Amino acid sequence: MKQDIFDIMASRLDDENSEVIILDQTSLPNEVRYKRHKTKESVWEAINHLEVRGAPAIGIAAAYGLYIAIKGSCAKNYEEFYKEFSEAKDFLSTARPTAVNLFWALDRMEKCLKENCDKSLEEIKRLLRNEAEKIRFEDEEVCRQIGENALSLLNPGMGLLTHCNAGTIATAKYGTALAPIYIGHEKGYAFKVFADETRPLLQGARLTAWELQEAGVDVTLICDNMASIVMKNGWIDAVLVGCDRVAANGDSANKIGTSGVAILAKEYGIPFYVHAPLSTIDMKTLTGKDIEIELRRGEEIYESWYCEPMAPKGIKTYNPAFDVTDAQYITAIITEKGIAYPPYEDSLKKMFE
Ligand code: MRU
Repeated sequence: MKQDIFDIMASRLDDENSEVIILDQTSLPNEVRYKRHKTKESVWEAINHLEVRGAPAIGIAAAYGLYIAIKGSCAKNYEEFYKEFSEAKDFLSTARPTAVNLFWALDRMEKCLKENCDKSLEEIKRLLRNEAEKIRFEDEEVCRQIGENALSLLNPGMGLLTHCNAGTIATAKYGTALAPIYIGHEKGYAFKVFADETRPLLQGARLTAWELQEAGVDVTLICDNMASIVMKNGWIDAVLVGCDRVAANGDSANKIGTSGVAILAKEYGIPFYVHAPLSTIDMKTLTGKDIEIELRRGEEIYESWYCEPMAPKGIKTYNPAFDVTDAQYITAIITEKGIAYPPYEDSLKKMFE
């Protein structure tokens, strides 16, 4: 029997609130496997090794990881507790550098701690657990709203290209770029979706193609270098992507290869939409140049997913996990608060008012 894709949770607390249960996305699409994490080190590894990935899902897992790290604290007073909390927070914030949701969620946990500094440590722990849960549940609502807003730009029967995975497993539920596809599917829009493969991690093939197929959406898998031909064939009416960090001027970092797809879309006159919860918009980062791009191990290019290495031994590699799409290529940025159009300096600022 097919599973309901929305029953699959990227991460959650177990019933005793003592472990974080994380869907191991590295074993998809072949196996839906969850791993239990009892320590911040283990949650850090799950984020760093991409067992949980996608900007909102990383933030949620980190918030749970921070709660797990301090829930057993034997600190005798608030100062001692705060020190332990800060160490755990600093540690988790090194798991990955680009997705701002990681820092956003950890900062939100710290704000909750500071606002409740006059409470007992047991009460503070309970409030921190609730805050981590809120971060997850709010994300569901945010994604649903992004989906509704994005759907207003689409018509039934459209051909859509999506890059990487910005789906339900990259968030608390529904996804960002995939949310309008799911909501449209519920309403009978009959979209024809093209998921590209997104080397080196195959997120299109392993994650997006899997998610959409499980949900019964019409999805066709293509390799990254096929984006141009499907556009030229006239099969793509809009490109929908998620993002890891949007700078104040609209420049948006997303999975490597996104900027190339955006440039192609402009050439073919196809709208290019970025889907971003406000938690992914970083008004303190002024332009894309200020976004740190994660560099990952070369093995991901020549070894992962193969039985044998697929490049000569000792080859030099360059493996940036993300690139920045310049704001000039982005038709609109779709948030839960509404749709931002250029100039983004003004329209994004308004989203926070
Ligand atoms: O390296 P990843 O898999 O974490 O990269 C994910 C992406 O680039 C997603 O498009 C982005 O985080 C948005 S997820 C809603």
